Amino acid sequence: MKTNNKILVTSALPYANGPIHLGHLVEYIQTDIWVRFNKTIGNDVVYICADDAHGTPIMLKAKEQGISPEELIEKTKNNHEADFKKFFINFDHYSSTNSKKNEELCKKIFIKLKESGHISQKIISQFYDDKENIFLPDRYIKGICPKCKAEDQYGDSCESCGATYSPTELINPVSILSNTKPMTKDTNHYFFNLKSFKDYLIKWTKEHDLQATIRNKLNEWLNDNLNDWDITRDAPYFGFKIPNEEDKYFYVWMDAPIGYIAAFEEYSEKNNRFEGIWNNEDKGQIYHFIGKDIAYFHSLFWPSILNGAGYRTPNGIFCHGFLTVDGKKMSKSRGTFIKASDYLNYLDPEFLRYYFASRLNDSIEDIDLNFDDLTKKINSDLVGKLINLASRCSAFLEKNSKLMLSKELEDKEKFLSFLNNIEEIKNLYYQRKYSSAINKIMLMTDTANQYINEKKPWSLDDLDKVQEISTQGLNYFRTLVILLSPVMPDLLEKVENMLNEENLVWNDSLSPILNKKIKKFTTLKNRIQKEDVEKLKEGLMKNNNNKQDMKVPNMSNEIEYDDFAKVNLRVGEIVSAENIEGADKLLKLTVNLGTLGDKEIFAGIKKFYNSEDLIGLKTLVVENLKPKKMKFGTSSGMVLAADSDGDIIVIEANNKIKNGSKVK
Ligand code: MSP
Ligand code: ZN
Repeated sequence: MKTNNKILVTSALPYANGPIHLGHLVEYIQTDIWVRFNKTIGNDVVYICADDAHGTPIMLKAKEQGISPEELIEKTKNNHEADFKKFFINFDHYSSTNSKKNEELCKKIFIKLKESGHISQKIISQFYDDKENIFLPDRYIKGICPKCKAEDQYGDSCESCGATYSPTELINPVSILSNTKPMTKDTNHYFFNLKSFKDYLIKWTKEHDLQATIRNKLNEWLNDNLNDWDITRDAPYFGFKIPNEEDKYFYVWMDAPIGYIAAFEEYSEKNNRFEGIWNNEDKGQIYHFIGKDIAYFHSLFWPSILNGAGYRTPNGIFCHGFLTVDGKKMSKSRGTFIKASDYLNYLDPEFLRYYFASRLNDSIEDIDLNFDDLTKKINSDLVGKLINLASRCSAFLEKNSKLMLSKELEDKEKFLSFLNNIEEIKNLYYQRKYSSAINKIMLMTDTANQYINEKKPWSLDDLDKVQEISTQGLNYFRTLVILLSPVMPDLLEKVENMLNEENLVWNDSLSPILNKKIKKFTTLKNRIQKEDVEKLKEGLMKNNNNKQDMKVPNMSNEIEYDDFAKVNLRVGEIVSAENIEGADKLLKLTVNLGTLGDKEIFAGIKKFYNSEDLIGLKTLVVENLKPKKMKFGTSSGMVLAADSDGDIIVIEANNKIKNGSKVK
């Protein structure tokens, strides 16, 4: 572990078009713990973040609300910052990518890249909505998949067969903004020549601090052909104009990472700290914390851009997995989409920090928020073991020695051997293996409680002895709270107050406090009540029924009654559901239609369901759909599923109709 070093840390910049949710918080809590840990062990750390304020979705959302994009991003930034504060995420500076500084830097970097021959221009043909007068991003176009002919697919990839393609290959493309057929239009775009960085990236990947899984993924990408990267968007767009161009803007993913540097410079100039760190590796280390979904941008484009423009690159990129809630993907319709503010209505923010820490490690595996597990961890470990230790010991001290701590510990040896664990916990935090650190801290808590249980201070007449035992117990508690402080900074503050101390740091955990008066114990944390979790969950289901906050793209292409009458719908029971090797999105289903027998159907719902959960489900099947040959077999029907605010739900036929009977 390098100590006494300067370390610049960032989290990914959240988009300014929606509220902070618990998925985001996995990242900000993970980073904040690392930053607080490094600060408490004496490293010099600066933690920077910002809102990612540009792009088409933000522009359109502002339009929908009848406000300017500037108003929208200001409002969102205030909300984001308020949420972060409530979860004790302690940025040294929080900015916005829509800043003067970022605009200057983007232009400077672009010109530098252009002068060094890393930018080229190409005329490309893109879809254009001439009703809304806008070039359409891939996700704003839907149509029939050119490969498998599945309907209603986005312009970049097919959810049904997994193919990726360019939007102009879609059959019968429709703009989701106006519901009209887009035209193609030529436009001159700037490209960043990523291809020419291949050798550099191969070397970079080897030499920097990356997780093995991410390094493997990068090598895979590097073995495939890299494509030059289109960094241009045409007006109307909310972003920064490209120098010497009228209606062309930098793509949001160009200016967003540059926002890391811009936000840092705002901080650095104001505070005279860490000057020159982006130009010189000797000035300190730089680490980015990100989710695995944006690894491509951070580990291929970003180092190349930096290198091409003459900057140093980050020392490492730390990726985390995605949050699921009670085993399911976060989704509004399932009631598993939890905003930071929803959570705060019912539960203590530090409980989420503690829970995430107890689940997080240095891997990119997804982590699950299971409310029963959360309740158990908090009530039995945190409150039942840790807080209870303090409440017991301070009760003895209050009763027997007017809250005065003894001059000596009762068993110094024992206390010193307890401290032997600290170095290992320090290493675990540094390596981001928080779950192991928490386990270890909880084992130490058990040791401390065992000590009290063995000494039985309640049964002793020797009051000096009782005071010494309680003093030792309370010092165990104090040490444990310091070790937990990167995770629970507010608990530390409350305990400092109780012990008449301030600004405790990591090394204070090694030196017990003796011979001083402390304050009376007051409740530090309350148990989680089952009702609160239930209320939180009920609230989420209610939000979901509130149609107003669901964005339903207007896709209603009217059909004639006769078109509908052609569809033969039957109730069927899913009797088997299998994953298919090599298919990311498809599940192979066998559906029993009663008298009509079994049908084998391929459905693009793997992202939304575990195959086991589907077995036994009664659903609606389009029985007379023409069989279709697909890569993995022939699909001879369709299981009805519907889009519900971005989530796909298989229609349940939960009634008394017998299998295979026609639905009226
Ligand atoms: N604006 C980009 C990042 C630009 S960085 C130069 C972005 N924004 S985001 O709001 O979609 O996500 C912000 C961070 O939160 C990302 O690192 C993303 O991976 C993470 N998460 C968003 N949803 C998440 C979960 N459900 N679970 C865990 N992390 C999640 O991407
Ligand atoms: Zn397809």
